[in-house]
Amino acid sequence: MTPIIRPLAGQDDFAACAALEQEIWGLDELNAVSPITLHALGLRRPRLGLTLGAFDQGRMVGLCVMLGSLEPGVAYGHMLGVLPGWRDQGLGRRLIERAQADLRAMGVGVVYITFEPLEARNAHLYLNVWGGRAVAYDRDHFPQTAKMHQGLPVDRFIARFDLNAPPPVAPPLADAAPPLVEIPADLQALKAGDPAAALAWRMNTRPVFERYLNDGGLAAVGLRVEAGDGRRRCFIVLERA
Ligand SMILES: CC(C)(COP(=O)(O)OP(=O)(O)OC[C@H]1O[C@@H](n2cnc3c(N)ncnc32)[C@H](O)[C@@H]1OP(=O)(O)O)[C@@H](O)C(=O)NCCC(=O)NCCS
Repeated sequence: MTPIIRPLAGQDDFAACAALEQEIWGLDELNAVSPITLHALGLRRPRLGLTLGAFDQGRMVGLCVMLGSLEPGVAYGHMLGVLPGWRDQGLGRRLIERAQADLRAMGVGVVYITFEPLEARNAHLYLNVWGGRAVAYDRDHFPQTAKMHQGLPVDRFIARFDLNAPPPVAPPLADAAPPLVEIPADLQALKAGDPAAALAWRMNTRPVFERYLNDGGLAAVGLRVEAGDGRRRCFIVLERA
């Protein structure tokens, strides 16, 4: 059955969401968004945020938490997650689409989201599908609290999404002109199998992204995937911000 997506409502939902955060990211209790905060974020008045869950036959298998901001018309995407067994079936995409629609209805026009610069799946979803532009690179954005970080410094892209822009046409990635920055095709597998190599990717790409995004006036606008000879290579596409 297709999971249904709806706003979180009630203590059981809040507790399930906090538990799911721990399951998806390996966050400890101190770093997960607590049930009491999730309750506040779902208030109808004042509107402080947006909390969505994806439920498969009553079990919460995905979540999306958006925070309001002091800048009018601006929101911040705090968490988007889907349990491993439910990934790559379009649920992440559906959660984003539902969040966009709900935020638009609340008068939000711009969303900022941070995401792992070496995670090809997220780059595809956020840049290619949703049309975001990563405009800055922030080293050590979060402390290494979650198990999933496995010793990797937690650098993040800061990406901007214009909710009133027309839906993105797929960028002509095959013809994308340099600069292209290669990232791992599967960061999670690399971290699990060869953490030293994952760390080397971080340390090698960090100064490149910092130079292009923070100093060079470029933005990350897409992910280009090249497949052949049984291997996939992924490249972040950059263009003038
Ligand atoms: C990011 C996340 C929410 C996506 O959820 P999902 O349900 O798998 O997303 P979808 O199935 O809608 O879309 C996945 C897309 O990535 C693509 N994809 C999967 N693996 C990929 C890879 N290694 N490289 C490039 N693209 C990849 C899929 O083909 C699909 O794109 P398509 O619909 O155009 O074919 C989920 O992977 C997750 O919870 N990850 C861990 C937490 C996280 O990183 N959250 C985001 C930042 S906070």
